[in-house]
Amino acid sequence: MKHSKVTVVGAGFVGATAAQRIVEKDLADVVLIDIVEGLPQGKALDMMESAPVEGFSSKILGTNRYEDTAGSDVIVITAGLARKPGMSRDDLLFKNAEIVGGIVTACAKHSPEAVIVMVTNPLDVMTWLAKERSGFPAARVIGMAGELDSARYAYFIAEKLGCKPGDVEAMVLGGHGDQMVPVLGLTKVKGKSLTGIMDAATIEQINQRTRNGGAEIVGFLKTGSAYYAPSSSAVKMVRAILKNTGETIASCVYLEGQYGLKDVYCGVPAQLGRKGVRKVVEIPLTAAERQELHRSAADVRQNFLKLNIS
Ligand code: NAI
Ligand code: 2OP
Repeated sequence: MKHSKVTVVGAGFVGATAAQRIVEKDLADVVLIDIVEGLPQGKALDMMESAPVEGFSSKILGTNRYEDTAGSDVIVITAGLARKPGMSRDDLLFKNAEIVGGIVTACAKHSPEAVIVMVTNPLDVMTWLAKERSGFPAARVIGMAGELDSARYAYFIAEKLGCKPGDVEAMVLGGHGDQMVPVLGLTKVKGKSLTGIMDAATIEQINQRTRNGGAEIVGFLKTGSAYYAPSSSAVKMVRAILKNTGETIASCVYLEGQYGLKDVYCGVPAQLGRKGVRKVVEIPLTAAERQELHRSAADVRQNFLKLNIS
C-alpha cells in the first residue's frame, strides 16, 4: 500500500520533533525541508538511523528543494522566526508573513491537493494568510493551537487535582494569544463537571496559567519556545487527517457564520478528516464566553488587515 506523504517545513524544534513523532508512529513518509543547508538532511539521517532501534518503517528525507515535497497529503508549516529582543509583535507579524507567504506558494504549487496545518506564529493570522496564498478551499487550511492550549489546560487541572491527565476533558477556544477562551461547561474530570470539584478562584488561576502557557515555557528555556506539546498537538491533527477519523479537535478554522463569526480564522472545535475540516462543531457557550470569542476573533482580524492583502 502507498505510504501517505507529509511535508514538514522548518527543521527547527517544533518541525523536527513533529517529523520524529510522525515516523515513529508510522503515520507517513516525511519530507523535512528548511532554508538552512544541511540542517534537514542531518536531522533526517539521524532519525533514519533510529529506525532499527525504534522499529518504524516510514522514511524521512531531508531537503532544501520544494520539488521533493511534490504530491504531499499534508503540509505542516513550522518555519519562521521567534520574537527576538527589540522586535515588536508587528515586526514578527510582517517578517513571518513574508516567510510563510513564500513557503505556502511553493508548497501549493507542488502539492495542490494537500491539507495545510499551520504552526508558525502569530498562528491565526498565518493560517489565514496561508488560505489566501495557497488558493486552497478554506477547509484545507487549518491552524494548530486549540489542541495545544486545551492540552495545557487539561494538564494543569490534572496536576492540581493529582489525577491522571487522561481523566481530564478540556476545550480552549479563540485565537492563540492572551484572549483564548477556556470553556468551563466542557471541562470535566472523569465525566464530572470541574465546577463541582474545584473552587472558582483556583479555576481562574488555571485559566490564567493556560493563557500564559507559551510564555511560561519561554521563561524557562530563555532562547526558544515550547516544542514537545506543540508537536504532539500538530501530529494529532495530522493523524486525524490522514486516517480520516472525523475526530473533533480544537483547531483554527475559517468561520462562515458559525458562532456568529464570518470571514475570519479563529479557534473552535472542528471534525477533521481526509479533506481537512469536515464540519465546524458548534457547542453551547455562555454569553461571556461568546463575547470573549468575538473579542479574540476581532483581534485576529485587526492583525490580518495590517498585512494589507488584496
Ligand atoms: P525554530 O527556530 O527552532 O525553527 C524554525 C525553523 O524555520 C528554523 O530551522 C529555520 O531555519 C526555518 N526557516 C526559517 N525561514 C525559513 C524559510 N523561508 N523556509 C524554510 N525554513 C525556514 O522555531 P520553533 O521552536 O520550531 O518554532 C517554529 C514556529 O512555531 C515559531 O513561529 C513558533 O512561534 C511557532 N509555534 C507555534 C505554536 C502554536 O501553538 N501554534 C507552538 C510552538 C511554536
Ligand atoms: C506556545 O504557545 C510559542 O505559541 C507558542 O508555546
